[in-house]
Amino acid sequence: MIVAIDGPAASGKGTLGKRIARHYGLAHLDTGLLYRAVAYQLIQAGKPLTDEAEAAIAARKLDVETLDDETLRGAEMGAAASKVAAFPGVRAALVQLQRAFAARPEGAVLDGRDIGTVICPDADAKLFVTASAEERANRRFKELASRGDPITFDEVLADIRARDERDTNRAVSPLRQAEDAALLDTTKMDIDAAFRAAVAIVDAATS
Ligand code: CDP
Ligand code: CDP
Repeated sequence: MIVAIDGPAASGKGTLGKRIARHYGLAHLDTGLLYRAVAYQLIQAGKPLTDEAEAAIAARKLDVETLDDETLRGAEMGAAASKVAAFPGVRAALVQLQRAFAARPEGAVLDGRDIGTVICPDADAKLFVTASAEERANRRFKELASRGDPITFDEVLADIRARDERDTNRAVSPLRQAEDAALLDTTKMDIDAAFRAAVAIVDAATS
């Protein structure tokens, strides 16, 4: 069974992906971490985020099993990730890796921007998770503040808006709802309510 979860920044994809994977006994891949890791490697190597050739080389060298969440989770890395994610060479290098992850015998849950449209178009269940930009900024702000990040709410909201804009309007694999994906608007749902709604969608799609 393959479950594809897409949606904009801080909509709850990652948290839902993790819980859905646990519920059905599947492996989970947060594909945003791949783009964050590519950006991180460029920054570490002192290369500009505009260097498509270097970004593609970094993408080809990634190992999904050794991604370090903690270093990659900051707001700065999210913004940097959305820049390198627009490069066709980076996306092409990451396609096989994501499909190989999804091809494990028991199946998998993948979350990102283009899972239901490009990476796993034949997924058994597809969810497009969203929430208002203000609610998403509120969630991300609380999360970053609890980790000691001094970023302000207005900065988080501006980052989310800029990223939504870049991710939706890029030429390759833009963020969009697949035609056969179920829309889950979590603006007024806490994580437990969103999880129950997601399980109902997956069960209906796979029964
Ligand atoms: O993966 P994505 O960026 O879409 O979002 P996330 O990291 O799963 O969720 C962002 C934050 O919002 C986390 O701190 C979640 O616990 C929180 N959240 C929430 O408060 N209510 C929801 N319905 C979903 C997520
Ligand atoms: O957790 P959050 O939604 O804030 O970000 P993320 O899922 O870690 O993704 C970071 C950036 O990577 C996004 O803004 C996208 O530009 C890019 N990304 C993508 O293009 N395709 C994916 N499948 C996943 C992420």
